[in-house]
Amino acid sequence: MNRLVCTECRQGFSLDEKIWRCPCGGLLDLEFQSSFPLEKIKARKPNLWRYREAIPLSREENIVSFEEGYTPLLPVDFEGRMVWIKQDHLFPTGSYKDRGATVLLSKVKELGIARVVEDSSGNAGCAIAAYGARGGIHTEIYVPAGTSPGKLAQIEAYGAVLKKIPGSREDTARAVWDAAQKDYYASHSWNPFFFHGTKTLAFEVWEQLGWNAPDTLLVPAGNGTLLLGVSIGFGELLEAGLIREIPRIIGVQSARCAPLARAFREGLKEIPSIQPLDTLAEGIAIAEPVRGRQIVEAVKDSGGTFLTVQEEEVKSALRLAGQKGYYLEPTAAAAVAGIFQYLPKADPEETIVSVFTGHGLKATEKMLKILGEPKTV
Ligand SMILES: Cc1ncc(COP(=O)(O)O)c(C=O)c1O
Ligand SMILES: [Zn+2]
Repeated sequence: MNRLVCTECRQGFSLDEKIWRCPCGGLLDLEFQSSFPLEKIKARKPNLWRYREAIPLSREENIVSFEEGYTPLLPVDFEGRMVWIKQDHLFPTGSYKDRGATVLLSKVKELGIARVVEDSSGNAGCAIAAYGARGGIHTEIYVPAGTSPGKLAQIEAYGAVLKKIPGSREDTARAVWDAAQKDYYASHSWNPFFFHGTKTLAFEVWEQLGWNAPDTLLVPAGNGTLLLGVSIGFGELLEAGLIREIPRIIGVQSARCAPLARAFREGLKEIPSIQPLDTLAEGIAIAEPVRGRQIVEAVKDSGGTFLTVQEEEVKSALRLAGQKGYYLEPTAAAAVAGIFQYLPKADPEETIVSVFTGHGLKATEKMLKILGEPKTV
């Protein structure tokens, strides 16, 4: 049955209820019977809506889209070892968050909601603002005041109301909470429709590898929107009998803010409270991930692990990617640093996929600073 279901009290709700969390306060998951009619999929345009029967939206006319997705999957050489990389920095707003935003804002339109609020470290805010503009939905975006100026400009350019909140990412999350009691919360961490957009990365990888799953998938992780998305996506393909196994999922965190990696390493049931330090990888600097337990479980169930990367590793990965012709923002380079850590342990036959998640043009100030520094790694 297609429904929203509370992860705490197990109460079920129709997909047409205007709720983003359970009245008991619990997180909602979305149960959806996806199907994958291959001939239809192949005949459609190369964008993520080609997996239409796997996306929980009732009516076509509600689709809010720039025909995004089906990004190239390119083989990239890492010191003699080939890794397949999804080019998700090439989305209309410059990050993979468009996957979640196109599905969530389509659902918002279907629900007849005229205004939404969202909080973000930057990129999800850009995506929600852009798709809000496309769908005629008013958006109010809360971000930490220290977010890269390129992302702030982008959010404002889309016509969103920008709220700059002093302090940490968690202070921003607290600030949006009041607003979310009155307007619909188009949250990329709470709202389950977002994850049913990010899951399309799994479908695309499966199709681009000739309808096969890779052995290993390595993604940056903060709130886990991409990590949980691929876990849901490959889970649906497994359930449909289209793949034999879910890939090993490897989450990459900044060593300066790594609550998920610590919970995994120490076998903790709850996400520990940590003191985050500033990091270049602003997109994954999430000290209190709301779906933390789910993320750690998804990694564990897949037989994967977490890696943590230091600032110097991020910088050198960023420079290296640039020298290969890929201009990435530092958060995206954290995954590249993770690839360098992982490869020496990988099996020579292993098919490895990773993702370039965000474009370098979003973080010009940081790039100038990094490029001006002497190289230490
Ligand atoms: C470029 C980039 N990569 C990766 C991530 C990680 O996403 P998540 O916090 O959902 O795990 C983000 C999140 O903002 C991002 O902006
Ligand atoms: Zn509940």
